[in-house]
Amino acid sequence: MDMLKDKNILLGVCGGIAAYKSALLVRLLVKAGAHVQVIMTKDATNFITPLTLSTLSKKSALINYFKSDTGEWNNHVDLGLWADLFIIAPLSANTMAKFAHGLCDNLLTAVYLSAKCPVYFAPAMDLDMWKHPATKQNVTKLVCFGNKLIEPTYGELASGLIGEGRMAEPEIIIEQIAENFKKKTLSGKKVLVTAGPTYEAIDPVRFIGNYSSGKMGYALAEELASLGAEVTLISGPTSLSTSLQMERIDVVSADEMFAAVQKVIPQSDIVVMCAAVADYHPKEVAREKLKKDSDEINISLVKTIDIIATVGKHKKKGQVIVGFALETSDEEAHAIKKLESKNLDLIILNSLRDEGAGFKGDTNKVTIIDRNHHKEYIELKSKSAVAKDICRKIVALCSLSRV
Ligand SMILES: Cc1cc2nc3c(=O)[nH]c(=O)nc-3n(C[C@H](O)[C@H](O)[C@H](O)COP(=O)(O)O)c2cc1C
Repeated sequence: MDMLKDKNILLGVCGGIAAYKSALLVRLLVKAGAHVQVIMTKDATNFITPLTLSTLSKKSALINYFKSDTGEWNNHVDLGLWADLFIIAPLSANTMAKFAHGLCDNLLTAVYLSAKCPVYFAPAMDLDMWKHPATKQNVTKLVCFGNKLIEPTYGELASGLIGEGRMAEPEIIIEQIAENFKKKTLSGKKVLVTAGPTYEAIDPVRFIGNYSSGKMGYALAEELASLGAEVTLISGPTSLSTSLQMERIDVVSADEMFAAVQKVIPQSDIVVMCAAVADYHPKEVAREKLKKDSDEINISLVKTIDIIATVGKHKKKGQVIVGFALETSDEEAHAIKKLESKNLDLIILNSLRDEGAGFKGDTNKVTIIDRNHHKEYIELKSKSAVAKDICRKIVALCSLSRV
């Protein structure tokens, strides 16, 4: 884990059972060559001793603003400036709420507010605390502020209950924070990503849509941004949030998505068209809500603009275009036909026949096909892990075409 060598890492520890895992986290960080400064909340000291964390980190764990015996104080601003990265693990529901609302009543919250470096947080709590709408809102806020969430996992919790809320294992946390120091291979590149479904209005209250959640496109947008690209995400209706690292344009229909793409495409080096755009929309949109008068109604549908074909047709020299295909039969042949007819550089094939793949879920299983019809099979994994594999291919293509 060379990426962490000589990096200054602040580790915040809150009061929760998972605080015992912080000891292992410190050990792994130190082993990777990082300089670690631990900051604990007072409650954290009920769960793990400062002595343990000080010994493992080779630095006194800090708890208070100042030492009552000498009056010496811990400068939160200096700590914030010293750090290359700040990870709070475990983050309690309580401290999370303080972060979300800008409260500053202890050293940890003061350092959080002062930190200029990337901030990662690994929540840990009982499943009902994690599910609570207040917690959900606070997580969304922290992500919107640009902090990175290290998702808790599913399993047996300290309470004996089984569910989501376990802090990610220290090895996973190390892997995720190391990503922050990876080479910004797409720095200076402008990337357009489309994601989510489109809704095609039938009348003022009804639409034709599809089951796309937007999760794959959002994961790609985040991964591309983490590689240093300047990302514009054009999104159909979803309930997902994005980090502050990208520009986001929200649209509803295929026509709106096309108009937004037209604006962004001229300055894009890389285009990733992941949205599930409707192929047809109602020929006419009723001005009033359709009444339930007849037993049967017919809605005449007309083709929408083929956004990806238009983008491919006007492809600039060196531009890299990536498309997606969701097929239900003869998948590879259909995907290759789409790759060629739309002038794409890569096509990512999802098959609805694969369990755990495609719309809605958090996992995907894809085949990446390039212009030489070379196929790379990506096994079932989280959408963010699949996004990393796809981005690896995109980076390789960029270095070939030198965009
Ligand atoms: C045995 C025990 C276990 C707890 N586990 C958690 C936990 O896993 N996550 C959490 O958010 N709070 C947990 N709490 C509650 C927090 O300790 C409490 O909200 C505390 O005020 C957090 O303080 P801090 O955010 O300043 O560290 C636990 C409390 C007790 C007594």
